[in-house]
Amino acid sequence: MEIDKIESSAREFGIPILRTESHKILEEIVIKEKPTNILEIGTAIGFSGIIMLKSSNAKLVTIEHNEDFIKQAKLNFKKHHLIKRVKIIHGDALVEISKMLASKKYNEFFDFIFLDGPKAQYDLMLDSLLLMLKSNGTFVADNVLFRGYIEGNNTVPTKRYKTIIKRLDEFIKNCKNNPNLIDFELKTIEDGIIIAKKVNNEKK
Ligand SMILES: C[S@@+](CC[C@H](N)C(=O)[O-])C[C@H]1O[C@@H](n2cnc3c(N)ncnc32)[C@H](O)[C@@H]1O
Repeated sequence: MEIDKIESSAREFGIPILRTESHKILEEIVIKEKPTNILEIGTAIGFSGIIMLKSSNAKLVTIEHNEDFIKQAKLNFKKHHLIKRVKIIHGDALVEISKMLASKKYNEFFDFIFLDGPKAQYDLMLDSLLLMLKSNGTFVADNVLFRGYIEGNNTVPTKRYKTIIKRLDEFIKNCKNNPNLIDFELKTIEDGIIIAKKVNNEKK
């Protein structure tokens, strides 16, 4: 299955995946940074995972809590001959991240982290994710503007979204002011993407 077929089937079934411009940006960053170990939060059906793997020689660890999505993702990784480079972790992202940290196996292990999971928990995950990111590694978070509500949008959000928006706003501030992150950039295209680098401890 070609990548655009995965994209169109995801859109048809209302599965939330990277939008067009964000897709291009992610691809460009991966090509530029050439990561070897990527951590993704929010596999969905493997669309962004396939993009990152096809743009690099990296291995991918990706976390997803929806069993049906995982089944579909496995099929998609197989169809693209990428399954050997992928480890899919089935579970709640916060819980699985805690387990990974507790195992100590993943401390400063990843050189690229793509955060695209539960928006209300981005801020809760930030410190743990940065512990797993290598010095000089790349940190990318998608959907940080949550349908454009946070930056420059005066539309009154529905109650349902208010908590998420508030938490994402905190997340953005905490990334911007984080002593472990440098080169912070917030791209305001589509749902908004944060791109930053973990400080290079050798240069500190
Ligand atoms: C925006 S989608 C990911 C899209 C995917 N990265 C792509 O572009 O192809 C977010 C994903 O996070 C998953 N998710 C939401 N809450 C989660 C949680 N608490 N733990 C693990 N996965 C979660 C959803 O099931 C969904 O598949």
